[in-house]
Amino acid sequence: MPDATDIIMTGPLMAYAADQLRARFTVHELWKSEDRAAMLRELGGKVRGVAGGGSHVKIDGALFDALPKLEIISNFGVGYDNVDAREAGKRGLVVTNTPDVLTDEVADLTLGLLLATVRQLPQVDRYLRAGKWLEKAYPLTTSLRKRKVGIVGLGRIGKAVAHRLEAFGLPISYHGRSRQADVPYRYYPSLVEMAADVDTLVSVAPGGAATHHMINAEVLKALGPNGILVNVGRGTVVDEQALVEALKSKAILSAGLDVFEDEPKVPAELIAMDHVVLLPHVGSASVHTREQMGQLLVDNLKSWFDGKGPLTPVVETPWTKA
Ligand code: NAP
Ligand code: 8YV
Repeated sequence: MPDATDIIMTGPLMAYAADQLRARFTVHELWKSEDRAAMLRELGGKVRGVAGGGSHVKIDGALFDALPKLEIISNFGVGYDNVDAREAGKRGLVVTNTPDVLTDEVADLTLGLLLATVRQLPQVDRYLRAGKWLEKAYPLTTSLRKRKVGIVGLGRIGKAVAHRLEAFGLPISYHGRSRQADVPYRYYPSLVEMAADVDTLVSVAPGGAATHHMINAEVLKALGPNGILVNVGRGTVVDEQALVEALKSKAILSAGLDVFEDEPKVPAELIAMDHVVLLPHVGSASVHTREQMGQLLVDNLKSWFDGKGPLTPVVETPWTKA
């Protein structure tokens, strides 16, 4: 039997997680309501938890205002730029995310996207299906060999990408806010300087104001005409219009993108280009990994309402383990 703790789901969640929430809590599906303001007015005074459904759903001060009894926001995803975690922290609200359980999946996808971009795998597949192999062989592609990779955001996923790149025999450097003592890769305090020294940028940086348009026209120009950009972090990290221009003018060679500035909208100019590989934000999108993420979202809520604290609070959350 569900208990009397009211929580809202702000977006769709896979049945694996949603069914577990319904078994334990009294769940209200805000995202299904045609009049969300009315639903919030009716339920606001009793809702104590939010289960955040995906990176497109904003969870901010306006929602906190409408939910005066709110205690915890359990976000579906390791990236939580959709949640105003600083404002939540100020109000003493706990925010949790889903780190670690998706790291390997996203890193695997990143290597797949890098290879697909460099060796033009989707284009080659389209070529065969169009019957063009019968006429002549596909033109030779660029190569991963001799490439130098710069990782933007050497965190959990960035390090897992780096381990995989080591197996591919490629030199690795990284940019972040600070040097990390325990990694063997070259650190660049300046992103432009790193871009000038490598020919392949892989961005796994989080979204939000601090990283907004960090990869801009200047960085792309520094990357150069043999340059490839792979972005699996957040679309907002890249100035998308500058990227379109750089691809059009051949200031860089190509891009492999899993994330975009205004998802699920993708600029028509990118869609029209044949020398880019575009994925609809599928980095963690396997059944296995999405179940692990869903489980962690559920477990954070259960742990909190069992009085055991959050399992994976974000850094802005005012919480220290006992
Ligand atoms: P993480 O462990 O927190 O790593 C983030 C890294 O970004 C840190 O190493 C941090 O390094 C760096 N960083 C943070 N702010 C920065 C700034 N202002 N400038 C430069 N670097 C900065 O997170 P993670 O688990 O690896 O996940 C990374 C991101 O991947 C998520 O936030 C999410 O946006 C994205 N993601 C995408 C997918 C997908 O499906 N495509 C799936 C999962 C995650 P410093 O602290 O040294 O700066
Ligand atoms: C999810 C992600 O696709 O974890 C993240 O930060 O971007 C992805 O794993 C997303 O959170 C669900 O919309």
